[in-house]
Amino acid sequence: MDQIVVRPGPPLEGTVRVGGAKNAALKLMAATLLAEGDYRLRNVPAITDVETMGEVLMCMGLDVTRIAPDELAIHRGPDCGVEAPYELVERMRASIVVLGPLLGRVGRARVAMPGGDDFGSRPIDMHLAGLEQLGATIEVRHGYIEAWTDGLLGCRITLDFPSVGATENLLLAAVLAKGTTVIDNAAREPEIADLAVFLNRMGATIHGAGTSTIEIEGVTELRPADHMVIPDRVEAATFLAAVALARGEITLEGARADHMGMFIQKMTDMGVWITPTSSGLWASAQGRPRSVDVATLPYPGIATDYKPFLVAVLSVADGVAIVTENLFAGRFKYVSELIRMGANIRTEGHHAVVRGVARLSGAPVRASDIRAGAAMVLAGLNAEGETVVADAFHIDRGYDDLPAKLRQLGADVTREGPTQRASAP
Ligand code: EPU
Repeated sequence: MDQIVVRPGPPLEGTVRVGGAKNAALKLMAATLLAEGDYRLRNVPAITDVETMGEVLMCMGLDVTRIAPDELAIHRGPDCGVEAPYELVERMRASIVVLGPLLGRVGRARVAMPGGDDFGSRPIDMHLAGLEQLGATIEVRHGYIEAWTDGLLGCRITLDFPSVGATENLLLAAVLAKGTTVIDNAAREPEIADLAVFLNRMGATIHGAGTSTIEIEGVTELRPADHMVIPDRVEAATFLAAVALARGEITLEGARADHMGMFIQKMTDMGVWITPTSSGLWASAQGRPRSVDVATLPYPGIATDYKPFLVAVLSVADGVAIVTENLFAGRFKYVSELIRMGANIRTEGHHAVVRGVARLSGAPVRASDIRAGAAMVLAGLNAEGETVVADAFHIDRGYDDLPAKLRQLGADVTREGPTQRASAP
């Protein structure tokens, strides 16, 4: 039994602290492959994906220790393995972000080729093509990416699409390449800017991270650094959607309005009142949400990760909304679960037409990935009767005890079965 049970409760009320960003922490951890020594990463969420990245690094001989609930100490010695095994890459495809730093620092990498996942096929062609442009030789053999180089050379790389993972892998490789690398059409997510701040602190010379053109002046050596991970904008969005569904008034400590402007605009258009405070965000929702159309886009557009929450809110909104997915064509899997809860949604290719119903009805549903699972819990906040979300381990990959944080706001959400809390890598 591994499930989250949600029952109707009063409107939400209170304060909750937003944790560190999963998608920043994972890449910062990979960056520690670049230089020998001791690192401290603060505001690292206690989630299973961080634990998995810890296992990847430990496989390569690094020491990774959780020295406080939100703090990791990482030691990278003079020797470093170069293999990320299938067992770990299959569990978390973000493991492939070790390719860039291994090539840059060790000149060799052997990383399992990730397969498809619940979003459908997720190619990594741009990661590999960019690394080849930097001077790596890459072959895929027996399910592994085998990559090697005698030394990377800076060059100009234009990405076909602003891929987050490809931008990060290339950034992590280019910091130790000889000469200047320019990444054009780079992804602009705040997590990439955070990675660049960390790398610059380690002695790299990176300009323009957070914009579409990143310029990296290669250096010969980096040193360890300490860093505070930025807050998780997707977790913050989860709570804003929660208040839209359950109504009430909440404060999100640590949330950054400047990292989620378009999402805040959408929620405001839907009738949620959101105001930045000195330490986070305040949000209030008193009536039924209004329908608005949504299209996902690379940052600063509406993130695909927000979409399951928005669809959950739209399923009970007043009106009809068209939701368009522009990043992962297969990312509508959770819709059939919402329909089991009484939602009126039709999908057609990468569009969904969501006709708001007055209220959802609790049902047994299944989490198919991190965000879809969280969206099911959110939908349960609005539903009449009990909602049981199975396969809750998916949610633990990206949330540090979501039920406990929602309970802090007065919701009736309980975990049955073991929470896979990340105690220590
Ligand atoms: N793509 C390619 N070729 C590539 C790389 C990407 O065709 O070489 C395509 C993908 O198939 C997709 C699009 O480009 O259609 C965008 O993919 P991107 O590379 O930007 O995504 P990612 O790096 O694999 C990260 C987050 C995801 C988030 C996406 C989009 C991490 C660990 N993951 O994935 O987060 O949805 O960016 O913003 O940073 C999550 O946190 O639950 C999650 C799935």
